[in-house]
Amino acid sequence: LTDQQINEAGHLTIGGVDATELAAKYQTPLAVYDVSKIRDQIRRFKSVFEDNDVNYAVSYASKAFATIAMYQVIDQEEAHIDVVSGGELYTAIQANFPMARVSFHGNNKSLAELEMAVEHHVGVIVLDNFHEIDLLDQVLREHDASISVMMRITPGISAHTHEYISTGQEDSKFGFDLNSGQAAKALQIVLANDRMNMLGIHAHIGSQIFELNGFQMAAEKLVEIAADWHEQFNYQPEVINVGGGFGIQYTQDDHPLAPEAFVDAIVKTIKQSAGEHHLNMPAVWIEPGRSIAGPAGYSLYTIGSRKDVPGLTSYLTVDGGMGDNIRPALYQAEYEAVLANNPTAKTTETVHIAGKYCESGDILINEQALPETKPGDLLAILDTGAYGYSMASNYNRNPRPAVVFVENGESALVVERETYADLTRLDRSYTKNN
Ligand code: LLP
Repeated sequence: LTDQQINEAGHLTIGGVDATELAAKYQTPLAVYDVSKIRDQIRRFKSVFEDNDVNYAVSYASKAFATIAMYQVIDQEEAHIDVVSGGELYTAIQANFPMARVSFHGNNKSLAELEMAVEHHVGVIVLDNFHEIDLLDQVLREHDASISVMMRITPGISAHTHEYISTGQEDSKFGFDLNSGQAAKALQIVLANDRMNMLGIHAHIGSQIFELNGFQMAAEKLVEIAADWHEQFNYQPEVINVGGGFGIQYTQDDHPLAPEAFVDAIVKTIKQSAGEHHLNMPAVWIEPGRSIAGPAGYSLYTIGSRKDVPGLTSYLTVDGGMGDNIRPALYQAEYEAVLANNPTAKTTETVHIAGKYCESGDILINEQALPETKPGDLLAILDTGAYGYSMASNYNRNPRPAVVFVENGESALVVERETYADLTRLDRSYTKNN
């Protein structure tokens, strides 16, 4: 937290708005995004490419957080998006997002999803498997249409403790395998199809990555494949897409490089490697999700009950939990929180921050140092913008929180809080038939 984030009343501010006012106006639990942080991160990524003088696309991996308002912000920043479902595509269409800047990912896109993509002139389909090539061909014929495609391959780079190692082979459900010749076979099929414009090659090596070497290895591998394809099939990819995965800082123990440092290393690796292989410098595309949405997001909760286990520990419970942020329960993800109505107060104890869900594993933060608190105080968990709201559920029939955007001292409701009526909207009654 910077000093600017604490106002005269001694409260946390987000985007220039007092967090306690946000809680009073919109209730809790509440997902709040500081929009200037989203814009800033996109601009930083862009400037890396501009400084290196390469063609590029910053394609926001919208699975991290996808709503109409978010797509509008991404559009305002003239970035691309990638979508992974008909639902994300539908949301982007509702946001009037320019379809030419959309890439469609997924390892089992349905016929209906591919039809939707073709009908709306989505920019790129990222081909994942042979079945999909057939389905897409069928859709393109039916619509007498053509479309750009990229091919996702598994680069054989795996996380091995903290190091990324080249395994040669990778056991992954995504993309075409390299060594068995699948990728080369898929390339030939696509090149022979005059409705598919083979734009480039894609790989994604993982998420929340802290080291450069995995990305450098993947970038080099992709250029080697390009060189190989050039030699074998006289085909040169216009685009090399290295996916996302740039790690962010969640706690004081995390020390990732700045996200743009990863991108700089990737671009320089591709430049050098393309030069060595006498290839034209391709455009470089990236797909950051977490690094764009994560640090911009705050989760506001009201503190309620407390349980002290004498001599052992204390549980401080908030009015949300695993329904609005499944990451701690699912991945043992760690976060840090501040007492939003008094963030500078001296901490006096360490507690578990528990959620309200009927499950022992519903602990949002395992060890959080806090000052003395009382029911009604406001807790802000930091950096929750990626894969928090987007993975939210109605577990225990809790309505999902509202989402608010703040920027320049103004707040705007961008997703309404679910109501109890929303929870039963799709339910139908069942009467016993005798
Ligand atoms: N591109 C592709 C093809 C991906 O599969 C992903 C993430 C991304 C880009 C974006 O990665 P990012 O920059 O956000 O790391 N739910 C998990 C994360 C799953 C990521 C899946 N793929 C979590 O909460 O940590």
